[in-house]
Amino acid sequence: MTKRLVIAADHGGVEMKDALVERLRTAGYQVEDLGTHGSESVHYPDYAFIAAEKVASGEFSHGVLVCGTGIGMSIAANKVKGVYCAKVNSEEEGRLAAEHNHANMLAFGGRTTEVNVAFKAIVAWITTAPGEGRHTERVNMIKARDMV
Ligand code: RB5
Repeated sequence: MTKRLVIAADHGGVEMKDALVERLRTAGYQVEDLGTHGSESVHYPDYAFIAAEKVASGEFSHGVLVCGTGIGMSIAANKVKGVYCAKVNSEEEGRLAAEHNHANMLAFGGRTTEVNVAFKAIVAWITTAPGEGRHTERVNMIKARDMV
């Protein structure tokens, strides 16, 4: 089955985003690119929210966000109910974001992480099954907060 993901960036992450789109498509993934396109300064919450809504609604199972550090994007995305966004910085963290945390979005720092590392983290995350047992129990504790 072809894996579909949505991706968005601000001006601080656009270079990495464009490189990731190309690499992911070459690797066989279907990628919807929500922008930004170009170096003009934009507001990262706008891009985080539009991508996060597409994951929260179920249109996409996976979403990737890139800003300068990945910090602003992850904070904004996690404000959207049903989104569990992890800012990761290695292939191992990508794998663990799936296995331990059931993250449905990843955030990267375009100015702080290498594209190759981000690409490997995304592939590890998408191809790793969510852990069961204690991991599900802990994730459910977080999900329960959505109900409050
Ligand atoms: C933009 O300069 C920068 O603040 C943004 O890309 C991001 O790093 C915010 O967390």
